[in-house]
Amino acid sequence: MPDTCVVTGAAGFIGSHLSGSLARSGWTVRGVDAFTDAYDPSEKRARAEALRGEPSFQLLEGDLTALDLDSLVDGAEVVYHLAGRAGVRASFGSEDKYEHDNIEATERVIGACRRAGSVRRLVFASSSSVYGNGPRPFREEGRLEPISPYARTKMQAERLCLAASGPELETVALRYFTVYGPGQRPDMGLRIFAEAALAGEPLQVLGDGTQSRDFTYVEDVVAATRRAAEAPVAGLAINIGGGAIVSLLDVFELLRREVGPIRIENHPMARGDVYHTEADHTRARTQLGFRAQVSFPEGYHRQIDSLRRPPA
Ligand SMILES: NC(=O)c1ccc[n+]([C@@H]2O[C@H](COP(=O)([O-])OP(=O)(O)OC[C@H]3O[C@@H](n4cnc5c(N)ncnc54)[C@H](O)[C@@H]3O)[C@@H](O)[C@H]2O)c1
Repeated sequence: MPDTCVVTGAAGFIGSHLSGSLARSGWTVRGVDAFTDAYDPSEKRARAEALRGEPSFQLLEGDLTALDLDSLVDGAEVVYHLAGRAGVRASFGSEDKYEHDNIEATERVIGACRRAGSVRRLVFASSSSVYGNGPRPFREEGRLEPISPYARTKMQAERLCLAASGPELETVALRYFTVYGPGQRPDMGLRIFAEAALAGEPLQVLGDGTQSRDFTYVEDVVAATRRAAEAPVAGLAINIGGGAIVSLLDVFELLRREVGPIRIENHPMARGDVYHTEADHTRARTQLGFRAQVSFPEGYHRQIDSLRRPPA
C-alpha cells in the first residue's frame, strides 16, 4: 500500500510529471521547490498550480539548502531528489549557482534521509552528461569525462548519493538521457525548435545537425524512476535512455512532417555540448526491468501538439 514520499524539484519539468503520477496512484506526495530563476519561474508556478488538483499532493516552497529538511522527510519512505540546476551552456561562468543547487542541496538531502530512519530509498536524478564525449554506448561502469560545470556538479552529487548507500538507506542514481515531452524546459533544443517551427521562424542550430541524442520521453523517465524506488537495487548508477538514437537532422525531418516547411540557420557548436549520446540499456533492463515504451516520433508528436495548445 503506497505511503508517503518526497519529490524535490516538484515544480520542475520532470518532477511535476513524477509528482502527478505518484499522487494519482495513491502516494501522499510532499513536493518541495524553490522556484529558482534558472528559467521563467512562472512556468514552475503553473505546474505547481496544476498539481493542486491532486488531493494527496502538498507543496513546500523553499531552498533545500535553507529549509528544515528533517521535518520534510520525517516519516517518508522514499525520497526522489530531482531538484537541481540543469543546463550545460548556462553552467559556464555560473559555477557557484550549480554547486549550490546540485552539490550543497544534495548533501543536505542525504543528511536528512540518513537521520530520518523512515527513508528506505533515495533516488537521485543524475545525467548522461557525466559521460562527456566518452566511448559509446555509455556504460555505467565506464570512465566519466564531464566537460561542463553542470556535468561535473552532477557527477559529484551522484558520487555523494552512491557513497551514502547502506542497509539503512539504499540509494540509486539514474543517469537520464535528454528528457523531452509536454512541459519540457524552455532552454532545451526540442522545445526551442518546435516553437520556432510553429511560429514560422528559422531554427537556430548549433553545429551541422549530425549530432545525436538518446532522447527519452518524460513518461518513460517517470516509470523508470518509480521502478528505481521499488526494485531490489542499491548503490548503483543506472542509465535511463529512450533506446533510439536520433540526430537533429531526423528531428528536422519530423518537424517538416508535423508542421510543414522549416528554415534552418547553422551556427558553431557550443562549448560543453557533447556530440553524441547513447545509453547502454543492460543495467536498466536487468536491474529495473525497464524498457522505454514511447517511440521518438510519437513522443515528439505529443510535445508539438501540447505546444499548439498551450494550457489556458
Ligand atoms: N531534463 C533532462 O533532459 C535531464 C537530463 C538529465 C538529468 N536531468 C536532471 O533531472 C532533474 C530535473 O530536471 P528538469 O529538466 O525537470 O529541470 P527543472 O529545472 O525543470 O527542474 C528542477 C527544479 O528544481 C528546483 N530547484 C533547483 N534548485 C533548488 C534548490 N536549491 N532547492 C529547491 N528546489 C530547487 C527548480 O526550481 C526546478 O523547479 C535535474 O536534477 C536535472 O539535472 C534532467
